[in-house]
Amino acid sequence: MIYPLPAVMVSLGETPEEYNIITIAWTGTLCSDPPMCYISVRPERHSYAIIERTRAFVINLTTRPLAFATDWCGVRSGRTYNKFEEMHLTPGAASKVRAPIIEEAPINIECKVTEIKRLGTHDMFIAEVVNVKADERYIDPQSGAFDLAAAEPLVFAHGGYYGLGRKIGKFGFSVQKKRRNKTAKKK
Ligand SMILES: Cc1cc2nc3c(=O)[nH]c(=O)nc-3n(C[C@H](O)[C@H](O)[C@H](O)COP(=O)(O)O)c2cc1C
Repeated sequence: MIYPLPAVMVSLGETPEEYNIITIAWTGTLCSDPPMCYISVRPERHSYAIIERTRAFVINLTTRPLAFATDWCGVRSGRTYNKFEEMHLTPGAASKVRAPIIEEAPINIECKVTEIKRLGTHDMFIAEVVNVKADERYIDPQSGAFDLAAAEPLVFAHGGYYGLGRKIGKFGFSVQKKRRNKTAKKK
């Protein structure tokens, strides 16, 4: 019941024959320094044994245009399909891990598994983030910041996919002093 969540496409595999994509909603940040994150995967998934062996995966953030592929990769198995080919997605070279990135994703987060926590239905792959690639199209040339809204991120809540809603405020807005109206007459 902790919603909303990102629905990410996790890419994995050491060789092109093995490359696969699994859609994951049980994912998140664990620590800022060292940068750590996790994905929770059911042991029966085709992807599970590959990640367990290679100890590597890439979290690819998803967008409105990637919604169809995100859902499809979450209802079809790499045992039967080559998901990159079926969804016309491009595997690219990661810099630091033995797993492909998805070129069409706006952000690729390269992860090295440091620990596998056996939990129950799902096992948690705790990982160190070793490299992050961002699509230059979404980088503001002035500030160098990543324009998340322009990338139209995909949000998953109660079985449905949504876009981001209207921005409500920014970090710390609740305690920020109101700016005085510069045009107001001085007393
Ligand atoms: C939106 C969405 C979120 C999902 N989240 C997870 C998840 O967090 N963990 C998991 O093990 N499976 C999750 N799945 C299911 C797997 O993606 C699905 O079983 C997939 O077909 C497994 O692929 P594979 O057999 O090629 O590894 C999710 C599916 C969808 C559609």
